[in-house]
Amino acid sequence: MSPLSAARAALRVYAAGAAVILAQLLRRCRGGFAEPVFPPQPGRVAIVTGGTEGIGFATAKHLARLGMHVIIAGNNDSKAREAVRKIREETLNDKVEFLYCDLASMKSLRQFVQKFKMKKIPLHVLVNNAGVMMVPQRETEDGFEEHFGVNYLGHFLLTHLLLDDLQASGSPGRSSRVVTVSSATHYVGELDLDDLQSSGGYSPHGAYARSKLALVLFSHRLQALLEAKGSPVTANVADPGVVNTDLYRHVFWGTRLLKKLFGWWFFKTPDEGAWTSVYAAVSPALEGVGGRYLYNEKEAKSLAITYDPKLQRQLWARSCQMTGIADMSRDTLWG
Ligand SMILES: NC(=O)c1ccc[n+]([C@@H]2O[C@H](COP(=O)([O-])OP(=O)(O)OC[C@H]3O[C@@H](n4cnc5c(N)ncnc54)[C@H](OP(=O)(O)O)[C@@H]3O)[C@@H](O)[C@H]2O)c1
Repeated sequence: MSPLSAARAALRVYAAGAAVILAQLLRRCRGGFAEPVFPPQPGRVAIVTGGTEGIGFATAKHLARLGMHVIIAGNNDSKAREAVRKIREETLNDKVEFLYCDLASMKSLRQFVQKFKMKKIPLHVLVNNAGVMMVPQRETEDGFEEHFGVNYLGHFLLTHLLLDDLQASGSPGRSSRVVTVSSATHYVGELDLDDLQSSGGYSPHGAYARSKLALVLFSHRLQALLEAKGSPVTANVADPGVVNTDLYRHVFWGTRLLKKLFGWWFFKTPDEGAWTSVYAAVSPALEGVGGRYLYNEKEAKSLAITYDPKLQRQLWARSCQMTGIADMSRDTLWG
């Protein structure tokens, strides 16, 4: 990517963020965000990736408050132990635990799934939440560009490995749910199937937006396959808005300063940012409903190309190759 293209990618990401911030500011002026009410979820089990802080922590806490057994999947033991302690204390729900899972390592993902399966418990909700943003050019353990590897491929593989548990735990009137956290930056993302790894030049903004675009394509494709099979699992995307978390640790210092000074006012709090994920995970209004892009607990349209079945299929096939798994859309699992 040339310096000019990289600058364009950065401008597009900032423009997408600014549009969301403006909408959030207007909403604050009109009374702000009201906490939605959801029914209790006793006996239900959820996995939340990146549940150690930010939106994931708030999501895990809300689900625990509803009585769910919550498993935080994270890659930092001490942070996770502290998160579990806090959530148990705040929600008085003891069924909150941590299992190590590094999304930057396919080996770690497989070990996580193995440990989860050994528990012999059902799985009703998978929240694909963890993410990194605008990190310097780095590779995951398996040699993937970090945004694409952690944000997208890690969750692609994790969902595949857990799909049988989700299917076994769902029933026609009570589906299991895959909630995938994307972002408004997907609207300005570009996906070149011949250069998913940014080998033609690196832009942190472009790489983040690409990973978020890939997640939307994945979720829509997953829903189409589940629907074709008549599976009791649904897949939706949650867009949290612009939220005051540490995700911004790698952005330009001027942006970090603005966030520090005014973030409390024009960003959502992590709790507010988590509501769309929680809505997607438990709302009765979404029973049996999938293939949606959800924003502020309502349906919105994702970028037009995310509905393109050909692009969805191509990305899916490429992702199977990259993660070394069989393309399930071709075998009997999908009918
Ligand atoms: N904040 C926003 O304005 C915003 C807007 C749109 C979308 N989102 C999306 O919301 C999601 C959550 O972001 P956030 O704002 O809550 O950010 P955050 O506070 O930085 O939290 C990110 C979480 O992901 C975890 N994580 C990162 N790399 C990981 C890895 N290799 N393996 C396992 N876990 C890993 C982090 O754990 P460690 O730090 O311990 O690695 C952390 O728990 C992300 O997908 C992000 O793209 C956020």
